[in-house]
Amino acid sequence: MLPFLYFVLLLTVSSFGFSLAEKPQLSNKTFPKNFSFGATTSAYQIEGAWNLDGKSQSVWDNATHRIPGIIKDLSNADIACDSYLKYKEDVALLKALGVQHYRFSLAWTRILPTGFADEVNEIGVNHYKNLIRELKNNQIQPMVTLYHQDLPQVLMDRGGTLNPLFPKWFEDYARVCFESFGDDVKHWFTINEPYIDCTVGFISGGLREGIDNYICAKHHLMAHAAAWHLYDNEFRARQGGKIALVLNSDWMEPASHSAEDVTAAATRMQFIWGWFGHPIYYGDWPDIMKTRIAMRSKLEGFNESRLPELTQEEIAYIKGTNDFFAVNTYTTTIVQAIEEPEISSPSLDKDIGVNAYQCSDCIASPSMSWLKFVPWGTRKLLKWFKDEYFNPDILITENGWADGTGQLDDDVRENYIKEYLSNIRDAMEKDGVKVIGYTLWSLLDNFEWASGFTAKFGTIQVDFSSPNRTRTRKKSSFYYERVCRTHCLVGTCEE
Ligand code: BGC
Repeated sequence: MLPFLYFVLLLTVSSFGFSLAEKPQLSNKTFPKNFSFGATTSAYQIEGAWNLDGKSQSVWDNATHRIPGIIKDLSNADIACDSYLKYKEDVALLKALGVQHYRFSLAWTRILPTGFADEVNEIGVNHYKNLIRELKNNQIQPMVTLYHQDLPQVLMDRGGTLNPLFPKWFEDYARVCFESFGDDVKHWFTINEPYIDCTVGFISGGLREGIDNYICAKHHLMAHAAAWHLYDNEFRARQGGKIALVLNSDWMEPASHSAEDVTAAATRMQFIWGWFGHPIYYGDWPDIMKTRIAMRSKLEGFNESRLPELTQEEIAYIKGTNDFFAVNTYTTTIVQAIEEPEISSPSLDKDIGVNAYQCSDCIASPSMSWLKFVPWGTRKLLKWFKDEYFNPDILITENGWADGTGQLDDDVRENYIKEYLSNIRDAMEKDGVKVIGYTLWSLLDNFEWASGFTAKFGTIQVDFSSPNRTRTRKKSSFYYERVCRTHCLVGTCEE
């Protein structure tokens, strides 16, 4: 009887490699002593103080004020978590969590209100110096993102990321940041999620799909590389830090074992991760992007590929500009092969040419349609980075779960942290992936872009109806605290 039951159990193992009937085995291996656990936020999403102390408007200030309808609950982040004023309270919470690092972003508009480096706003600079000092006084390492979706509106008015001068503007801004904060910052991130910035982010003058995405991407890569070279040439020897681009997306799981689906998933991996990952490790766009976009561009009547060709000089400039691999990842996408999409108006999706969807029988976030609970995908993703990008040190810069209520009893988030970290530990132990740290998105419930305050990612609740923006620790924060302090996911761990 037993072997038969075992056979039935095996049949419940789906093509995705997990069993719906089985409870996952949590890793009982201690995370290495120097593995860094942290939490993260971004400036626009938490700071508030949108027009205080000389700050100018970012594209998000501008858009939420001008067209509130673009935000689900018609809100904006004028106050958000009020963290600009409450930063000491935030650091006290980080301290209570026992994290080793805090990843946050700088508001370009606070530091350079004109967008350019001609006028440095000392009040803005001092704010971040104070935050960094407070962190260091509490033995928390600051990890700093230069640009997290909140481009100065004045630069957007000049074409934003489509202007070929964008890399130069970014380099000038980066210099001010390295000079001001570099003695205390050992982990820098240039740009958060260029993929998002060049697809659903704000692109000046109305996005021309399938064209502007690729121009934006090239400028992001050149901007990142400019900041990397600047750091490498002028600051690294003295300041001794590292600098990386933050890439994001999902693991792409083939819908079946068929060769077509496997190829479709590999194609989507290259079009999303490889779009930025391939240039910074190999210098150029992935071959599959070059081939497919050139093929479709020709059929659409373009004289040349919509994907801008990188010159040998640009290739050499971009290649090798990632000191470690920084990754934001939350979920898994299932990918299926389809017939070649018809030739009509250009689009990134048609260039990729696959069917991508989310797993229907996984636990779904009640507030974010793209977010499903698929912990095993992260292990596969990490292994893919190892194989694809020369076994880099990997820092997970974002990972987390959203509900819609911000409830204190957040069991799903606690399980998410547990099971994702367990898969990360397995990737280290069993696949030899060099993961050096994990960062929970997010420290606080905050302004979730177009979803406003309807999606809550915090391990700490924020009461947005109170003028105090009262913070209260959720259940998951106590579990995460134990992990941060013990480096162990279960009751007892072994080395
Ligand atoms: C972004 C965050 C965002 C989070 C959840 C990441 O893509 O960097 O700003 O809040 O995902 O959607």
